[in-house]
Amino acid sequence: MSEEEKGLLEEDDTWQELKIPDLLLSDTVRELHALIDSEWDSLQLSACQTAAGRALWKHVIHDPVADILAGETYLRGFYEKIRKDRINNAREVSGVILAVRTLWFDSKLEAALNSFNDGETQVVLLGAGMDARAYRLSCLKESNVFEVDFPKLLQMKTTLLEAAMKSANEHQQLTMTAKSLTRVAADIRDDDWLEKLQRSGFLLERNTVWVLEGIMYYLSHLHAMQVLKTIADNCALSHTVLLADFMNKSTTTLSNSIFHFYSDWPDHLLPSLGFSDVKLSQIGDPDAHFGLMQDPLNLFNKLRNLPRTVQVHPDDGTPCCRLYLVQASGSPNQTIP
Ligand SMILES: C[S@@+](CC[C@H](N)C(=O)[O-])C[C@H]1O[C@@H](n2cnc3c(N)ncnc32)[C@H](O)[C@@H]1O
Repeated sequence: MSEEEKGLLEEDDTWQELKIPDLLLSDTVRELHALIDSEWDSLQLSACQTAAGRALWKHVIHDPVADILAGETYLRGFYEKIRKDRINNAREVSGVILAVRTLWFDSKLEAALNSFNDGETQVVLLGAGMDARAYRLSCLKESNVFEVDFPKLLQMKTTLLEAAMKSANEHQQLTMTAKSLTRVAADIRDDDWLEKLQRSGFLLERNTVWVLEGIMYYLSHLHAMQVLKTIADNCALSHTVLLADFMNKSTTTLSNSIFHFYSDWPDHLLPSLGFSDVKLSQIGDPDAHFGLMQDPLNLFNKLRNLPRTVQVHPDDGTPCCRLYLVQASGSPNQTIP
């Protein structure tokens, strides 16, 4: 790195130098992550990428285990992207979408839980990946949390978290903030995932928040619709809030995409499946910026000022790639705050 680049990076103390925690450098954890790197497919690896983003945006997201769950390779790779963005004075630093998305889900989850009347609640994380909400959100203290993902991912997550717990000293004990946490190994493309969830203690008659963060677009159209329909069809007995993010069509065609399902109009799609009270936000909206979208000329602020029917940017003809953050109620009479 040149002296000039170094100076530039040092000016801003939001971004500190990357420090790989000792635990990640231990033989045990190194071997576990080597296994992940060699055996997981891109779908499962997306969970480590997400955790790396959260670990690096630690000035806005306090996630005590994100770095351990992400692994050194992903931390270094993500850090490098951020470093380059900063050197290039990019208006959008890598990971900002992920940071805003995470904070949006956190805040809507808390609001939804507060909107339920007293009593036990459930939170289901579909495609939970390396999400550590059960360890970092105090609003989950009355909630039974269910994490649904592929068996080998959940097994590895448990092993990594056990290693983190073993190594923690008395000042930095890792404690669960949720009332309970149950990991449910299931492929949500299969017909029996709800049954598996129920067998693990999930109750249809208990108020529930469904968290579908960073998952819908990895599914085919058919599977995504089936998952949404299964949720909609099974929430008559309780208050239900759905939180999900949807890519629009242009976003799914980005890069050599592993993305499939998209919706340009989730606010029309969800009511057609039985959801009500749909609220849609875009990155940069008042409830989805968290102080991270100050520059009026950044991509997201420009995008959200364009009507949603517009498919290409008028200034340069590039496609309008949008991420919709959506909340909906599964119960006809419930109003979401
Ligand atoms: C981008 S990660 C997001 C993880 C998590 N929601 C978060 O925000 O940290 C996507 C996750 O969805 C999981 N996933 C993808 N397809 C799935 C399926 N058919 N059944 C269960 N989990 C799936 C992957 O294994 C991965 O952990």
